[in-house]
Amino acid sequence: MTLRLGDIAPDFKAESTAGPISFYDWLGKSWGVLFSHPADYTPVCTTELGTVAKLKSEFDKRNVKVIALSIDPLSSHEGWVKDINETQHTTVNFPIIADSDYKIANLYDMVHPNASDRFTVRSVFVIDPDKKVKLIIIYPASTGRNFNELLRVIDSLQLTAQYSVATPANWKTGEDVVIAPSVKTEDVPALFPKGFTLIKPYLRTTPQPN
Ligand code: BEZ
Repeated sequence: MTLRLGDIAPDFKAESTAGPISFYDWLGKSWGVLFSHPADYTPVCTTELGTVAKLKSEFDKRNVKVIALSIDPLSSHEGWVKDINETQHTTVNFPIIADSDYKIANLYDMVHPNASDRFTVRSVFVIDPDKKVKLIIIYPASTGRNFNELLRVIDSLQLTAQYSVATPANWKTGEDVVIAPSVKTEDVPALFPKGFTLIKPYLRTTPQPN
């Protein structure tokens, strides 16, 4: 199944290192990150899962629950988690789904046969509290992900869900944002009391409103 931005993220039941999971129940009203990695006991994946574990407080701050997935069985995940904890000096603090039958990998189109017909690629899905897919990023097996970039995009998604703004190139939280083209310039002062700069009629910046 091909998922696109704005689609409803499919619900599923799965075995995980935190026990059986029913995805929607597990998400509750939180935002979610579902990310796949190619295989257990591989070097890049080991660093990725350690990095995500260390960022737990950043995800918590943003009301985001994180869950990983690979097509290895639970017994493999359980052994590998010990290695991640040891080598990355952390404690894996999120569930890892064991998707040995590729049920979820296929549901989320995580196997790209021309890259590998056996392993999941490095997919990332950000899901909002209405269960809509808000971000899809796909990396190859050979490239570890930048999870600070993921946090940056989540900041943008959460901000732009609340205000009629968009975030410019390389934006980071705290920096000026752009006012959405749908906002008429005469409505700007009431909507953005921190002020705004009109650079062009279509390019108006304002301090981050929240
Ligand atoms: C890794 O996680 O290191 C990896 C996994 C599959 C292919 C290449 C690298």
